[in-house]
Amino acid sequence: MKKNEVIEKAIEAMNKAYAPYSKFKVGAALLTKSGKIFTGCNIENSSYGASVCAERVAIFKAVSEGEYEFELLVVATKTDEPSPPCGICRQVISEFSNDLPIILVNEKGSIIETNIKELLPFPFLKEKLDGR
Ligand code: THU
Repeated sequence: MKKNEVIEKAIEAMNKAYAPYSKFKVGAALLTKSGKIFTGCNIENSSYGASVCAERVAIFKAVSEGEYEFELLVVATKTDEPSPPCGICRQVISEFSNDLPIILVNEKGSIIETNIKELLPFPFLKEKLDGR
């Protein structure tokens, strides 16, 4: 698997973050089952609630290009300890996978390996809508 390439792309994406308000830069890189890599960074806005996380930018870029099946998500931050996706992003990830491997990295080379099941063990799933 192209694990190292995906990690590098997440770090590159982090350096493109537009985060003038929080100064907290996040990068994401998403490897699709078809072998493509989609990147994202957080993009903030003066109307703070209009800001979007790096993970969702990467996922939405992939989905908008017709890719729905993912192999690996890498999230890069500049924190001392690698930092996990927020709750909204966990929900968005779980829309597309119930077992996606997720690697959290920082610039110092620390790595935490997890997956969406561990980060969101009891998700709200689209199947629940069938019970209406
Ligand atoms: N952020 C992300 O991009 N991903 C996360 O999982 C956590 C938070 C961004 C949102 C905001 O631009 C900044 O980090 C501080 O919350």
